[in-house]
Amino acid sequence: MRYISVCEALKAAPKRWLITGVAGFIGSNLLETLLKLDQKVVGLDNFATGFQHNLDEVRQLVSPQQWQNFHFIKGDIRNLEHCKQAVQQVDYVLHQAALGSVPRSLADPITTNAANISGFLNMLVAARDAGVQSFTYAASSSTYGDHPALPKIEENIGQPLSPYAVTKYVNELYASVFARSYGFNSIGLRYFNVFGKRQDPAGAYAAVIPKWAAAMIEGEPVYINGDGETSRDFCYIANAVQANILAATADDAAKNQVYNVAVGDRTTLNDLFYALQEALSACGVAVKQKPVYREFRPGDVRHSQADISKATRLLGYTPTHVIRAGIAEAMQWYKTNI
Ligand SMILES: NC(=O)c1ccc[n+]([C@@H]2O[C@H](COP(=O)([O-])OP(=O)(O)OC[C@H]3O[C@@H](n4cnc5c(N)ncnc54)[C@H](O)[C@@H]3O)[C@@H](O)[C@H]2O)c1
Repeated sequence: MRYISVCEALKAAPKRWLITGVAGFIGSNLLETLLKLDQKVVGLDNFATGFQHNLDEVRQLVSPQQWQNFHFIKGDIRNLEHCKQAVQQVDYVLHQAALGSVPRSLADPITTNAANISGFLNMLVAARDAGVQSFTYAASSSTYGDHPALPKIEENIGQPLSPYAVTKYVNELYASVFARSYGFNSIGLRYFNVFGKRQDPAGAYAAVIPKWAAAMIEGEPVYINGDGETSRDFCYIANAVQANILAATADDAAKNQVYNVAVGDRTTLNDLFYALQEALSACGVAVKQKPVYREFRPGDVRHSQADISKATRLLGYTPTHVIRAGIAEAMQWYKTNI
């Protein structure tokens, strides 16, 4: 497995990484893995949707020496100077900072656009000028938009269904133009519904798994938008972390491409409800609620499932966790932390 040898090589010869969005869900999990591999990490975040407590938790999970390899910059990717400061002396960039959530982008497209497009462009310019070795960025399965085919293959996309989807597609367009115009190579990872520890369960824009886990633990109503037959390729965080490390260290033949990051499976919301209920009951939380059905949510794609063969072929990506294994680990964390 390429991932194991890459991790061994990194441990033997540590690199300097920049993680933008480091205080968020995916960013803080990347931080934890890289520090445990004895890497040097610079983190950039403005705490728009990330939290100091995510960083504090990582601090508890690594050794004091490993924590000393982390340098945090409180800054904003909408500010080019902050981006330039963050990329200094960096080998590998993992660009995660953005405003997620389809409904947030429908409610406030201007703020989403500023972080996700202007911020992205600032990061590309800063990384290009600093001559970093690789630039890996968080793309999104929302780019498939209204394209009906399943499973999703990287080349076949439809029309975007939300401002958020537009921003993530524009990221891909800018990345490709930077390759063509400046010879600046990058890799986009189209995440499919990533979940796991430290994903925020609170607020109007929370993702479905943490939102439902919190509601189940607290005895609040669990809402299903639509008939529950909407489906997603839920991807456990360990798989997404693996994809980032493989992408950052990929050879040139794998660059200037986008890759699906998922498991290649499809779970309906109705099945997800029972999977969470079962996993929580295994942790000693009895879930008594029945789901409450309400209207479909505007901007949502009906079905989503990835073909992951391109990432497997060119990056050596091999997901370690199917959805049930991921949910079992994640529910342990929510039970302890809610
Ligand atoms: N979680 C998923 O299922 C999923 C799916 C597809 C794509 N993505 C993408 O993955 C990335 C990480 O998502 P996440 O789930 O960890 O979300 P998150 O909200 O937990 O993390 C995003 C982080 O970016 C930071 N941030 C936002 N705007 C910023 C700015 N202007 N300057 C500096 N920092 C800023 C936030 O404070 C936060 O810490 C995002 O780009 C998101 O669009 C996530």
